[in-house]
Amino acid sequence: MKVIIKKEYEQISTCAAEYIAEQIKRKPNSVIGFATGGTPIGTYRELIRLHKEGLDFSNIIAFNLDEYLGVGMDLSKPYSQDQSYHRFMYEELFNYINIKKENIHLPDGLTKDPEEFCKSYEDAIKEAGGIDLQILGIGRDGHWAFNEPGSSFDSRTRVEKLTKQTLDDNYEAFYKNAGFSREEMPHYAITMGIGTILEARSIIMLANGSKKAEVVSKALQGPVTNQITASSIQIYQGTATVILDEDAAAMLDEGKIVASVS
Ligand code: F6R
Repeated sequence: MKVIIKKEYEQISTCAAEYIAEQIKRKPNSVIGFATGGTPIGTYRELIRLHKEGLDFSNIIAFNLDEYLGVGMDLSKPYSQDQSYHRFMYEELFNYINIKKENIHLPDGLTKDPEEFCKSYEDAIKEAGGIDLQILGIGRDGHWAFNEPGSSFDSRTRVEKLTKQTLDDNYEAFYKNAGFSREEMPHYAITMGIGTILEARSIIMLANGSKKAEVVSKALQGPVTNQITASSIQIYQGTATVILDEDAAAMLDEGKIVASVS
């Protein structure tokens, strides 16, 4: 595992975008796993800038990590009131790069048959040849995607109940501003599993801010446990790169970091 620590959020965004751009240049038809949330927004802005300079997304295939159950993109609403992860991805990235619509895959929060949908999502990832590079954030309860504490490291794409911590964080960050009450926000999501994520050939995990410091140190340097599903990074067999700002890295034991670059 390589850990890169940068001073500020802008620098982790640039660093992550460069890493993703290198992957796309090396393999123009890369299968990329995308994340939503506050963390990757700067990275996506930087990817849009790189696209304006010529970075070509026309052959990449995208698979998103997760979507709230019961929620779909609603273009009749302004973006600020549409909290679907579908809308997020179009507004924060896909509308501004030359990715082909047919190459975009997100879990369907409106599916009538979630179980069948989850199987078909796993099949689609396999048919695409597996994920070359998975982008990840980390939740304050240690989740990757919506793999909440207790999720098995073998878990596949499925419906997951969100924890109180996740509901609180996502309410504050997104749903509150959109005029929803806490009860109105969705309590379930479709999420790729930890097993699905661990099969990606490479991963980058991003985290910023002091509120992530404790969970980052637990995930990277604490016991490997499904109570912190991101701690599975310690048993991950592919190429893992963690990009942190100084605040998120503040509780790491420097003696234990495998490789650190600033
Ligand atoms: C989003 C996702 C989540 C977030 C995590 C951190 O697709 O899978 O695991 O990465 O909740 O969210 P932010 O970046 O908002 O702190």
